[in-house]
Amino acid sequence: MDDLYKPLEAKVERVINESPGIKSLVLKPKKEFKFETGQFIELTLPGFGEAPFTPSSSPLDTKKMEVTIMDAGYVTSRLHQLKKGAKVGVRGAFGKGYPLDEIEGEEVLILGGGVGLAPLRSLILSLIAEKKKFKSITLCYGAKTPADVIYKSQFKNWKKAGIKILRSVDKKDRTWKETEGVVTVLLDKIKVNKKNIAAIVCGPPIMMKFGTLKCLEVGVPEEAIYLSMERNMSCGIGKCGHCAFGPYFVCKDGPVFKYSLTKKYPDIWA
Ligand SMILES: Cc1cc2nc3c(=O)[nH]c(=O)nc-3n(C[C@H](O)[C@H](O)[C@H](O)COP(=O)(O)OP(=O)(O)OC[C@H]3O[C@@H](n4cnc5c(N)ncnc54)[C@H](O)[C@@H]3O)c2cc1C
Ligand code: FES
Repeated sequence: MDDLYKPLEAKVERVINESPGIKSLVLKPKKEFKFETGQFIELTLPGFGEAPFTPSSSPLDTKKMEVTIMDAGYVTSRLHQLKKGAKVGVRGAFGKGYPLDEIEGEEVLILGGGVGLAPLRSLILSLIAEKKKFKSITLCYGAKTPADVIYKSQFKNWKKAGIKILRSVDKKDRTWKETEGVVTVLLDKIKVNKKNIAAIVCGPPIMMKFGTLKCLEVGVPEEAIYLSMERNMSCGIGKCGHCAFGPYFVCKDGPVFKYSLTKKYPDIWA
């Protein structure tokens, strides 16, 4: 990491429409950019501001980086207007990502909702690259409707790579042949090995809350549940206090936290 405050210029190489409100930007930074899966970056749009995102691509590709962005407000709506060739800035990478060493040898259960699949895609690609180190990998993913499912073309490759995939939508249409219901119902369809499991949860706050409760209900120990936390951020480096909860800063101590650590703080799902 060079200068923490100075964005590195990156060019938008491709814009991918993932779903009605979500786009991925394929970025080519001016020089090699390294991150660990689950770490986040600040993406700067000159003249408008910056916002934190977790790269959705594999950390093994240091020449290109993908960021998957939901149109949520001021900066993200402008990021959605970018076309191929546009210039942005990238700061980071910041924080602590997924502890791949810690979960080695475990059955990995990934629970994702909506755009929460973005950091999990980076994780999935990292796990696939070192598949032998993990007992099994299961992905449970939920979206509101079939149209809201992101990375539609990629599930096939992940399945081929040996990942067990279960998907649900809150409201199905005639095209949907999989589960209808909230993503947590998928956990009733799998067998959880309570002794050798790591559950990784990422999605909107309400999904994180009920996803975590469901993991506990099916027997995942609280110290084996990893949450990707989101908080309003400013500096990204533990200076401004915007992202604090309890004694922790999401930008510095996270964004990935064990549930056993965060559970003491009632506002973690805010
Ligand atoms: C570590 C981290 C990783 C993230 N990764 C992704 C990602 O991969 N893809 C993605 O689409 N989004 C991600 N987000 C959320 C993204 O940063 C916010 O959607 C974005 O900052 C909103 O900026 P805005 O100017 O468009 O919206 P604003 O106009 O500022 O606000 C729109 C709404 O979003 C809320 N909001 C603003 N900032 C955040 C924030 N940082 N977190 C949660 N809510 C916020 C506001 O309270 C408001 O309700 C991540 C956030 C964090 C902290
Ligand atoms: S964003 Fe400033 S302390 Fe975390």
